[in-house]
Amino acid sequence: MLKKSTKGLNGVLQIPGDKSISHRAVMFGAIAEGKTTIKNFLAGADCLSTISCFERLGIQIERNETDVTVYGKGLYGLREPQELLDVGNSGTTIRLMMGILAGQNFFSVLAGDESIAKRPMTRVVTPLRQMGALIDGRENGGKTPVSVRGGNLHGITYELPVASAQVKSAVLLAGLYAEGTTTVIEPVKTRDHTERMISTFGGNIQIKDASITIEGGQELRGADILVPGDISSAAFFLVAGCIVPNSEIKLENVGLNESRTGIIDVLRQMGADVTIISKQTNEKEEPVGDLIVKSSSLKGIEIGGNLIPRLIDEIPIIALMATQAEGTTVIKDAKELKVKETNRIETVVSELSKLGANIVATDDGMIIQGKTPLKSAKVNSYGDHRIGMMLSIAALLTDGDAELENPEAVSVSYPEFYEHLASLMN
Ligand code: S3P
Repeated sequence: MLKKSTKGLNGVLQIPGDKSISHRAVMFGAIAEGKTTIKNFLAGADCLSTISCFERLGIQIERNETDVTVYGKGLYGLREPQELLDVGNSGTTIRLMMGILAGQNFFSVLAGDESIAKRPMTRVVTPLRQMGALIDGRENGGKTPVSVRGGNLHGITYELPVASAQVKSAVLLAGLYAEGTTTVIEPVKTRDHTERMISTFGGNIQIKDASITIEGGQELRGADILVPGDISSAAFFLVAGCIVPNSEIKLENVGLNESRTGIIDVLRQMGADVTIISKQTNEKEEPVGDLIVKSSSLKGIEIGGNLIPRLIDEIPIIALMATQAEGTTVIKDAKELKVKETNRIETVVSELSKLGANIVATDDGMIIQGKTPLKSAKVNSYGDHRIGMMLSIAALLTDGDAELENPEAVSVSYPEFYEHLASLMN
């Protein structure tokens, strides 16, 4: 049962570590020489899947809550796994690992849960095959389980057909193992955590406009990584603070990398009262700051184009915000939503409709008319963490208590979510 809000949301939260950065810190730590320490690691199910896959590849990893130490063995220190590599629900784990495994002169098999089994792998398989990796799997390698026999890669220039940081990262990781130069060209800029991390681990990477170039055979060195709070997790409380009356929430140490802050642009354009009260860069790698959000009156806007990759994971919660904004919100150019943990055009529209929202699906997004009162109903996360969190925030505004099926999905990216929400309701 989800509780509606009576007094507003008030308090301060430390948002857990960034999911994308936590995955990458473990991966680069494993293929770098020597020790890597990670602080504020996200101990969510997805990042724990990454740790267990690298343990199966022979890497020693110690974890004490959010402190992780990875004993890296260098580019060629991984060993052939005895068992299948289980990525759970994590698209980032499977796609980035395929890039690393493409460089290994051994055989490995990757698979995950029911959601992963539906998600497209061809987008990574195509460039990795061009580089020389042997990859197979269901639907000609397009679906899990997938097998990789790597080694003997050569550099390529690859123009990404879809804006995807996962595909970009897989090709760059394989590029570390390739003979010669690998260049990735992005149609629209996506999150650049991989590029930043290559520099942090002592690698050389060149970025010129939309082209990112890396030389094969460079050695990486272990590093000390401080993971900022995940803006994609903060987004649920940023929106909650705006749409629930009598609220004021402070979110501390949130990652503010430009390639991820589309949500802040949208909040401001919709008229939200959101302030960045400090902004600093931790060890020059990733910018961070504290955010304060207060109840606001909002207006509908149009969201599309280059903004989409900067807020792709925030669209479910933006859709909820739009139900509480005056006028029409159009979300377009977001076809990628169809291949996330669920088809998020379908799940957002079906579940918000059950709560009384005026929302329709389009081929590349959705159209929402506000402002609508929400009514209590039984809704479902369908195992999608971000759908579960969005619906829990929606339930704060319903006329009675709503019921959420599969609430545990939130632990994929935000295990403390319900605890944090309850702390703001006291
Ligand atoms: C991620 C990239 C995005 C994002 C996902 C995490 C990453 O996926 O939706 O949650 O860590 O690189 P795509 O690369 O499929 O756009």
